[in-house]
Amino acid sequence: MILVAPSILSADFGNLTNEIKAICDAGCDLIHVDVMDGHFVPNMTIGPVVVTPVAKAATKPLDIHLMVEDNNFFIDLFASLKPMYISFHIESERHPHRVIQKLRALGIKPAIVLNPHTPPEAIEYLIEDLDMVLLMSVNPGFGGQKFISSVVEKAKKLKELINKRNPNCLIQVDGGVNDKNIHILKDAGVDVVVAGSYVFGNDNYSTAIKSLQV
Ligand code: DX5
Ligand code: ZN
Repeated sequence: MILVAPSILSADFGNLTNEIKAICDAGCDLIHVDVMDGHFVPNMTIGPVVVTPVAKAATKPLDIHLMVEDNNFFIDLFASLKPMYISFHIESERHPHRVIQKLRALGIKPAIVLNPHTPPEAIEYLIEDLDMVLLMSVNPGFGGQKFISSVVEKAKKLKELINKRNPNCLIQVDGGVNDKNIHILKDAGVDVVVAGSYVFGNDNYSTAIKSLQV
């Protein structure tokens, strides 16, 4: 079954800890936390001052998605919150293998993110050291954008590389995911989806989450 990670970017930040409790009670699998630095992407979000109460309220593991220039700096900021995953962009990192080793040493599962233009072959020789690869299906920076459908073919290509190099590595897709495209993602071999506006835009979080757990 596909695992669902609601992106709290679309939550009501004036009522954040209750929102976290609500998605956990509604049966989400992970909590996706989007961290943006205003440099790698043209938006800024949250740091440890806000993510600390999120981690306290959460009864599901955190999945932190870094959209930043300086990955090492942000990993050091968030490591004490013990997220299950930290993902970082291949496009912002000159030494991705070193960052993977650092995350592993901290007891955090390493994941790498690919922007829509980046081919899966770019990370072929990192797959054996990764727990997850995140394919962006929108340009990173904002919630509520339209799904870029070329990610489906990319997921299939990535799945072939994963089967060859490390079958335990998960494929995650982030951006514009909803109940209309979930089945083509499932068929392409996707294991985990992020959903922001689709989950938080639904009056019933449980119904929305269950509709993606196919
Ligand atoms: C975009 C973020 C996503 C975003 C997804 O930069 O990485 O996690 O919040 O939001 P939706 O599901 O609304 O596209
Ligand atoms: Zn994200």
